[in-house]
Amino acid sequence: MEKILILDAGSQYTKLIARRIREIEVYCEVVPCFKKLGDEELADVRGIIVSGGPASVLSGELKIDDSIIGRLPILGICYGMQWLTHTLGGVVESGEAPEYGQAKISVKGGELFADLPESFEVWMSHGDHVASPPPGCRVNAKSDDVIVSFEDPERRIYGLQFHPEVSHTTNGIAILKNFIFKVCGLAPNWNSAEIYEEAVAKISAKVSDTEDVLCAVSGGVDSTVAAVITKNSVKNLHCIFVDNGLLRQDEGPQVYKFLTELGLKVNFVDASERFLNGLAGVTDPETKRKVIGRTFIEVFDDFAKSVANPTYLVQGTLYPDVIESVSSIGPSVTIKSHHNVGGLPEHMKLKLIEPLRELFKDEVRRLGESIGIGHQFLYRQPFPGPGLAVRIIGEVTRDKLAILRASDAILQEELAKHNFPIWQAFAVMTGINSVGVMGDGRSYDHCIGIRMVESVDGMTANWFFPGEKFLRNVSSRITNEVKGVNRVVLDISNKPPATIEWE
Ligand code: XMP
Repeated sequence: MEKILILDAGSQYTKLIARRIREIEVYCEVVPCFKKLGDEELADVRGIIVSGGPASVLSGELKIDDSIIGRLPILGICYGMQWLTHTLGGVVESGEAPEYGQAKISVKGGELFADLPESFEVWMSHGDHVASPPPGCRVNAKSDDVIVSFEDPERRIYGLQFHPEVSHTTNGIAILKNFIFKVCGLAPNWNSAEIYEEAVAKISAKVSDTEDVLCAVSGGVDSTVAAVITKNSVKNLHCIFVDNGLLRQDEGPQVYKFLTELGLKVNFVDASERFLNGLAGVTDPETKRKVIGRTFIEVFDDFAKSVANPTYLVQGTLYPDVIESVSSIGPSVTIKSHHNVGGLPEHMKLKLIEPLRELFKDEVRRLGESIGIGHQFLYRQPFPGPGLAVRIIGEVTRDKLAILRASDAILQEELAKHNFPIWQAFAVMTGINSVGVMGDGRSYDHCIGIRMVESVDGMTANWFFPGEKFLRNVSSRITNEVKGVNRVVLDISNKPPATIEWE
């Protein structure tokens, strides 16, 4: 697959550059900027983008392999532009005050700006600036008197001081397209059909017909799409769906039905007794997670033993996990442990199949859609692996689970009548009992919390206000219909400082 290579100098926007390039259907990869790039690494690369970053080229902190200059088209963005300048004999100066925010630029021709207006708004975020471009490079855009772009079409060197990947830059995508399509000569071909065919070909070539492949499915987007791709690539796929007793109302049977309808052969294992027994008496959140993780591995191990020749394990690892696990700034590359299969026992010795390793979440959703997975499943709310256990403060018991499920089901039922732009909404067992009055009687019952948040990626979140009428309705339905609840509260905390889940 022909591709663009992005050398990451540590900018918060690097992942966004990759997203934008994928959106115009070109395959790209992100690697740390210090990576040595030999013939093998550059074999399918048609162009290189050097990202922005927090360092100053004047400090000489980052070492980028300058032997790439002249071999392939290079676009330096922000830090990348300053690196090109510094390396090729231009002058970079340290600004007195960093420039941050919207700026207007004036354009004077150039390949990057082909067919674009002479003046438009861009997004800046930098401390240093280019005082004079490298000899041989022509300045083709300025903001006031500051050089914001240069190019040398002969050596195929291009620099941008602003961020074309950020949506506040008008014509940002058009600039990237000019570089990728016109300068690098790539064509859009990274689409769901191509991604699917490539994944199937890769897995079929790797796995023989006598080998068994294991896959734990949860009904979530990633494991489902990964399982379906693998099913279409190998002879012996064995899926397991574990009911850990911590699922939402009716979730087990619903997910089983949905997965079976997709043609997956799924072993439904009801291990709720085992999980709930393990959780008896446990109140500490981290201990709960550990018990659940350990029990899952035991159940999975039993399942693996029931299969003849298990050699592979399917995992739904996504590209952001792969990028985030690699440090861009120094050679101290660290891989997060959970990407090596959350502690599966050594003796299982399973090799990994990761069909989604190169994809972003939205690409996985599109891919899922193209292979017939329904919209309602592709856009389900995230649900934590430890399930309702992390939504019950204190000990997890069957009674509490029943109350929480019933309360949450009411919330979900009401939500289905609206189209709120939410990331997640759920009920929480707050672990508090409070005094209430019902008729002439006194009650001392549970307090249910309602958590509703907006978020882009779950890393940060804002609490969501669904309107007074909605809340009144949900509250009165829960207190009237769920025995054991006499109080409902709304969680109005953002992340940070709170997390989305309560535990
Ligand atoms: P927090 O609570 O950390 O959650 O703000 C961020 C997002 O991650 C989900 N979450 C989990 N997902 N295993 C998972 O698979 C977990 O242990 C876990 N804990 C939190 C959470 O639902 C939210 O979307």
